[in-house]
Amino acid sequence: MAILVTGGAGYIGSHTCVEMINAGYDVIVVDNLDNSSSESLKRVEQITGKAVPFYREDVRNKEAIRKIFKENQIEAVIHFAGLKAVGESVREPIMYYDNNLFNTITLLEVMNEYGVKKIVFSSSATVYGIATEMPLKEGMPLGAINPYGRTKYFIEEILRDLYVADSGWCIALLRYFNPIGAHKSGLIGEDPKGIPNNLMPYISQVAVGKLEKLHVFGNDYNTVDGTGVRDYIHVVDLAIGHVKAVDWALQHTGCEAFNLGTGNGTSVLQLRNAFVEATGVEVPYVIDPRRPGDPDEVYADATKAKEVLGWTAKYGVKEMCEDTWRWQKSNPNGFEK
Ligand code: NAD
Ligand code: UD1
Repeated sequence: MAILVTGGAGYIGSHTCVEMINAGYDVIVVDNLDNSSSESLKRVEQITGKAVPFYREDVRNKEAIRKIFKENQIEAVIHFAGLKAVGESVREPIMYYDNNLFNTITLLEVMNEYGVKKIVFSSSATVYGIATEMPLKEGMPLGAINPYGRTKYFIEEILRDLYVADSGWCIALLRYFNPIGAHKSGLIGEDPKGIPNNLMPYISQVAVGKLEKLHVFGNDYNTVDGTGVRDYIHVVDLAIGHVKAVDWALQHTGCEAFNLGTGNGTSVLQLRNAFVEATGVEVPYVIDPRRPGDPDEVYADATKAKEVLGWTAKYGVKEMCEDTWRWQKSNPNGFEK
């Protein structure tokens, strides 16, 4: 029996494959490599010493997905495949709705055909929209504020409806906070195409000399030092959260959302300073205006994941910075040689 990992060549997917294999699962990956490289899977094989069967396919291609289910005994799916850049989703909403919604619907149809009713879905803290209260708890009202966020919210709703219609399903909606860091080996990590949108890859590309300086988006927020506060989570902790969610899904039926965060807030300047301290490398910065849509503070209450899945994040910001840097400095051009 195997676990199908859609989008498994990507940043979180590749780290999750490592942790799933470490936990004794067999994984099979399907990815169209639109935002990744098959080199990441070779590195997963190098880290684990195990072969990772790989299908280069688009999850919207129903025949291709059927073939994977026909050729393998799949017992559960971890569904990462999708587009994830907020700004791009505002410019290209149809592309986002087409990919994220249709790939999920196609996958669910094929899972139903093959009687596979266990799915772990990559949701996001973005489904909480603009919250008025912190920390975020799973029961709080939802309401995304951009097309990317709405795809996550709509997919959550689709999955909740599916469970209402058929209580034989087990669905884990994992709401990630801000994943950063990389595997300790330095062999896999985040490899954004073009100029990074997110803070940590931007910091590490300044450190490695690819970008000149960090632009801090606003220092007049209502936070500890005026810069935006987020709940950064080590990608390996996040990956282990998926192992726990699969363990849970295989034993239960239900449809539950779980926050995967540390519960700790870190400001932009605190993260930049922690990076400089952990690596000894300077990261020059300037203060720019706020980025539209950015809230002051976002952090998780991850009690439910602890109580139900037995999961808590172990790594702190120091390790997140050290591990990001190990990956970045040994792979300045990502997976491209
Ligand atoms: P990523 O882009 O590195 O990984 C996504 C993978 O899916 C890529 O390898 C891409 O090639 C593949 N893919 C996209 N569309 C596909 C399709 N139709 N068929 C097959 N493969 C397809 O992104 P990531 O950071 O690893 O994120 C994984 C998931 O987690 C995404 O769904 C993302 O929205 C979600 N998420 C990410 C973050 C984050 O900060 N990275 C936060 C919250 C949620
Ligand atoms: C972003 C997405 C969110 C997604 C999350 C994880 C937006 C508006 N939101 O969240 O939907 O779930 O990534 O992938 O894109 N910052 C700078 N300079 C930079 C980059 C960021 O100061 O060059 C600041 C931001 O203003 C913010 C913090 O750093 O305060 C974190 O930003 P980022 O890494 O983009 O994550 P989020 O905005 O939390």
